[in-house]
Amino acid sequence: MGGSETAASHRRMRVRHLAPVRITARETHRTHPVWCVVASAIAMTCALVASACGGTLTTDLPVGIAPSGDPAEFRWHLPAGFPTPIVPADNPMNDAKVLLGRRLFFDPRLSNDGAVSCATCHKPSKAFADGRNLPLGSGGRLHPRNSMALSNVAFQQTLGWADPKTTSLEAQVRIPLLGDAPLELGMGGHEVRVLQRLYDVPLYRALFVVAFATDTAQISVNNVARAIAAFERTLISGNSPYDRFRRGDTHALPKDAQRGATLFASDRLQCARCHSGVLFTNAVRMGGVSPIAPQFANTGLYNVGGNGAYAAPNTGLFASTGVLSDMGRFKIPSLRNVAVTYPYMHDGSVATLEDVIDHYAGGGRTLTAGPAPGIGRRNPYKHAFVAGFRISPSEKLDLLAFLRSLTDSTFLTDSTHMNPWVTR
Ligand code: HEC
Ligand code: HEC
Repeated sequence: MGGSETAASHRRMRVRHLAPVRITARETHRTHPVWCVVASAIAMTCALVASACGGTLTTDLPVGIAPSGDPAEFRWHLPAGFPTPIVPADNPMNDAKVLLGRRLFFDPRLSNDGAVSCATCHKPSKAFADGRNLPLGSGGRLHPRNSMALSNVAFQQTLGWADPKTTSLEAQVRIPLLGDAPLELGMGGHEVRVLQRLYDVPLYRALFVVAFATDTAQISVNNVARAIAAFERTLISGNSPYDRFRRGDTHALPKDAQRGATLFASDRLQCARCHSGVLFTNAVRMGGVSPIAPQFANTGLYNVGGNGAYAAPNTGLFASTGVLSDMGRFKIPSLRNVAVTYPYMHDGSVATLEDVIDHYAGGGRTLTAGPAPGIGRRNPYKHAFVAGFRISPSEKLDLLAFLRSLTDSTFLTDSTHMNPWVTR
């Protein structure tokens, strides 16, 4: 990226970079009728950019920070022991792109009704989950599944509770953005209108040009997805008390949490057979780590009618494969920041971590009432590792202390993850 333009000229967001801004609603690079307003918009942008043509862009960005579009200047902030995330060749990281992605992530302009952003369901203070059993998408429509946390999402092997085909963040963004079943942002079919809204914001025009300097269609659905994906890759959490203990600070982890860590990895509880490694999930894609089975599992939450069924639409991998043994198989979630990502499981049907432990201790959950009663312990498709175990009350407290020690408060309060549209 960058072509003949030097890093130094990127760093200062000069107005001449704004000249080639292009908008397209499709991936064909076919230009959209808004071309006709480009000339006047450029003039307007010049007026809005600090000190007019030739000045640096300071419009509501922190003073002294003019983001670079040069991938060579991008720096990861990785905790010790975390590899560099894998980045697709056609979407290199750069500072302007991350800033742009953050703006877009928090911007309800992206939704058709102007009311929903990614952050409606992914809140920084909850490790980018939302605290609801089930979230509400555009127009107040209920989503059938629980919002997932996004800490360390750059290292996830697949994205979504039961979607083995979506393996890149760029591809994933298109689901909430454009999908209608379930409806999340509801931009599908309204791309032109939404892209026009972005185009109308001078800051966006400036950031798109710097972030995608060599692109022929800067303000496009593709580049919206790329920018958001770049922002998401920076959401790396590795500074919990547990991490500090691992790095040698023996005081970081209280004794009860240390005992809990041992229990978690024990042959009796078997948690670490599925929630393994530094992210506490087998379902990772990290340099130097080979995938371990299982990555999707039925944990015996349901057993409708006694034949192993989970109620539609939440049938897990079965929904896409039609293979009975895939019934109820969901992705093994990372347990990082798990104390703040309640309620739990693919449908938010388990309220607390105490209840999660009871579910596993029982080797599955028994529901006697409600729409999906059944004895989960007897689900024929349940994974063998969810066998049930004895646990004393004090051991339970130790295990809870361990799970809570995975909360990284620096991550939850990191100012670079917060809503950039709010002035503090
Ligand atoms: C209406 C609430 C809602 C909105 C809005 C929303 N999400 Fe989500 N997100 C969810 C739910 C629910 C899931 C789980 C989806 C599934 O498995 O069906 C999810 C899953 C994800 C995942 C997969 C995480 C993982 O570990 O597998 C990513 C990444 C993600 N969302 C990013 C985004 C982005 C980016 C946006 C904005 C473009 C967005 N979401 C908008 C609710 C929402
Ligand atoms: C067979 C693999 C497997 C084993 C063993 C296992 N888990 Fe899980 N875990 C999963 C899967 C799969 C889910 C999601 C299930 C769903 O939503 O239907 C999950 C979900 C969770 C959640 C909820 C996370 C969230 O964000 O919703 C917690 C907490 C959890 N497990 C903790 C544990 C503990 C503690 C143990 C040991 C007692 C354990 N797990 C053993 C596979 C496993």
